[in-house]
Amino acid sequence: MSENGTLIKVDKLTKHFPITRGIIIQREVGAVQAVDKVSFEIRKGETLGLVGESGCGKSTTGRTILQLYRPTSGKVYYGDADLTELKGEELRRMRRNMQMIFQDPYASLNPRLTVGNIVSEPLEVHSIGNARERRERVQELLRLVGLSPHMINRYPHEFSGGQRQRIGVARALALQPEFIVCDEPISALDVSIQAQVVNLLEELQETFGLTYLFIAHDLSMVRHISDRTAVMYLGKVVELATRNELYTHPLHPYTQALLSAVPIPDPSKEGKRQRIILEGDVPSPANPPKGCRFHPRCPLAIDICREVEPEWREVAPDHWVACHLV
Ligand SMILES: Nc1ncnc2c1ncn2[C@@H]1O[C@H](COP(=O)(O)OP(=O)(O)OP(=O)(O)O)[C@@H](O)[C@H]1O
Ligand code: SF4
Ligand SMILES: [Mg+2]
Repeated sequence: MSENGTLIKVDKLTKHFPITRGIIIQREVGAVQAVDKVSFEIRKGETLGLVGESGCGKSTTGRTILQLYRPTSGKVYYGDADLTELKGEELRRMRRNMQMIFQDPYASLNPRLTVGNIVSEPLEVHSIGNARERRERVQELLRLVGLSPHMINRYPHEFSGGQRQRIGVARALALQPEFIVCDEPISALDVSIQAQVVNLLEELQETFGLTYLFIAHDLSMVRHISDRTAVMYLGKVVELATRNELYTHPLHPYTQALLSAVPIPDPSKEGKRQRIILEGDVPSPANPPKGCRFHPRCPLAIDICREVEPEWREVAPDHWVACHLV
């Protein structure tokens, strides 16, 4: 960790997926610009929320930080280590510190393995402990996430969605990571159990000093859990601020539109809430608009927006935005 408490620093991180044509000889005919020159920091012990519509590049950002995808360009620092330069054993050792929790607890757990096998797999991969020690560790992990250690020989289909997500959390914790990418961990769950999983993640964060990148597709989902929130649109982070600042003083027109869709609990204010309806669809990341990527849908767009990409700037302490009008 560096001196100012930064655990992870993402610097102009870019991930483009090549689009190829041809059956015998594959030619590259373009690229999906899933993540494009994204920069931000994640501080030790915080939860950074990452929010945006489907396909805007949230999962790709998370996976590229963890080096599950190698970036097209840009850097990811973990403390002082440049992850993008690490390979082989060095990368494998660093990966122990970083884990991922997935959206779909049904698809992400192997149905043919018992809970015990699923949770101990990372321990086996890293040759930690003998069989008995691993079993004890798995039982301890199950207790930590609120499951009974007696469930160790059961299969994923014997559990509810919320319980399966707890299994995924236990597995992510097995190697005592410092940093976890939570990729929409509650989106697939019933509303009634979403809060339980969020509470569990918060308790574990408190106990182990974990740092989270918490991905969600709407702002209301990260409102309570995140210390700071980043808003993504079409491969770009367009605004990042502390929780209160973002919800009370959103500066980017896209953030303003997203927030205008979130109901306000106070009925007197809810009655006056003005919804900003965005016209048109999100353009394809294979052919993003020139200038500001949001300009075709932005109600405030001016000439420069169509030509010049707005700079990513810190306009107030801890408040970053990319918009010509700010
Ligand atoms: N492995 C891949 N190969 C090619 N294109 C990909 C790949 N993964 C993602 N993409 C594309 O990159 C863009 C960003 O996808 P990504 O999954 O990161 O978005 P997301 O914000 O996580 O969306 P969602 O909310 O639906 O999970 C999309 O256009 C997607 O189709
Ligand atoms: S730069 Fe222009 S188009 Fe982009 S968000 Fe700001 S005002 Fe809208
Ligand atoms: Mg995703």
